[in-house]
Amino acid sequence: MKLRDDARFSTICIHAGQEPDPSTGAIITPIYQTSTYVQEAVGRHKGFEYARTQNPTRLALERNIAAIEGGKAAYAFASGMAAIDAITTLLESGDHVVVTDNTYGGTFRLFEKVLRRYQLSFTYVDTSCLDLVEAAIRPETRMLFVETPTNPVMRLTDLAAVSSLARRHRIKLVVDNTFASPSLQRPIEFGADLVIHSTTKYLNGHSDSIGGIVVATHDEDSESLKFIQNTAGAILSPMDSWLILRGTKTLALRMAQHNVNGMALAEYLNGHAKVKQVLYPGLPSHPQHELAKRQMRGFGGMLTFDVGNVEAAFDVCKRVRLMALAESLGGVETLISHPASMTHASVPPAQRAKIGLTDSLVRISAGIEDPDDLIDDLKQALS
Ligand SMILES: Cc1ncc(COP(=O)(O)O)c(C=O)c1O
Repeated sequence: MKLRDDARFSTICIHAGQEPDPSTGAIITPIYQTSTYVQEAVGRHKGFEYARTQNPTRLALERNIAAIEGGKAAYAFASGMAAIDAITTLLESGDHVVVTDNTYGGTFRLFEKVLRRYQLSFTYVDTSCLDLVEAAIRPETRMLFVETPTNPVMRLTDLAAVSSLARRHRIKLVVDNTFASPSLQRPIEFGADLVIHSTTKYLNGHSDSIGGIVVATHDEDSESLKFIQNTAGAILSPMDSWLILRGTKTLALRMAQHNVNGMALAEYLNGHAKVKQVLYPGLPSHPQHELAKRQMRGFGGMLTFDVGNVEAAFDVCKRVRLMALAESLGGVETLISHPASMTHASVPPAQRAKIGLTDSLVRISAGIEDPDDLIDDLKQALS
């Protein structure tokens, strides 16, 4: 089986990196649950020596996601955070990074509580404003770390614009594409150097695995990431690699329904008397709706809404019946959460206030259930 160079997105998702198993012909890449590989003679082996360094299931996943994102190579890690941590090993002591101010709370915690101790420094700016990004760049800036849309205030960064800015200043553009998924947005097409994912979310899509991946476009980054994956050893397990491979096969189909459900809930909430504001890039009222139409192929399943005060926010989270109150996102089942006290509790209150992450916000990760059932659930929770 050979994929043509002009294969379309869903075909790539299903077939890239997937060869029938050479020993049996199994159409699905097996879970190679092994720690080592028998060698024919000293130094004569089949390309696999020790499973921290190489594993066929992980390799199949890495080739699959590299193709899905349009990159050259990918490296899978034990979690999204391990993937982000691996990217920061491309930096050296004294380097500076400009980061989207509304970045995921765990990323903020890694940068501020761990990496600052190693003489790396970070400046958080609203990357939707190019002037602020440019003003934050210093002679020692080596990386621009962007999330778009952001979690949970759904602000967008213009990827083509930040990419040309990064190129002009000779700094690497890293995009955390977890929230959109490559089905909706492929940052490398806009000039990103590296893309990361928490595969825990849309790529796996079934809420049964934790993982992360880095997609590289330059050979030198690829070599460094391969080295750190083997050296630090935060590898993704064969079982998790297999689960995510199963997930990417239905990515395009799932994302189509996430888009439908996200839009249906956003429109319902937008007209509700108890809702002050809905943050969803698919609504014409979203300040960056035009950018979303340009840069994304669908608006996704993530939306946030403001119910006026923290008591009302807690109340909605408690009263939903079909939706589950839980952290995480991107699964087939709908989740609801209170970002200020759950996913973003590690972000200091002053920083939360600065980015508009108030206590009255509720976030939904719309699953792929029937949208009318989800609307019925919100109707009774808000009544
Ligand atoms: C945007 C984003 N990036 C990274 C992560 C970290 O991923 P993981 O939980 O798989 O370590 C998350 C987790 O929620 C996330 O939402």
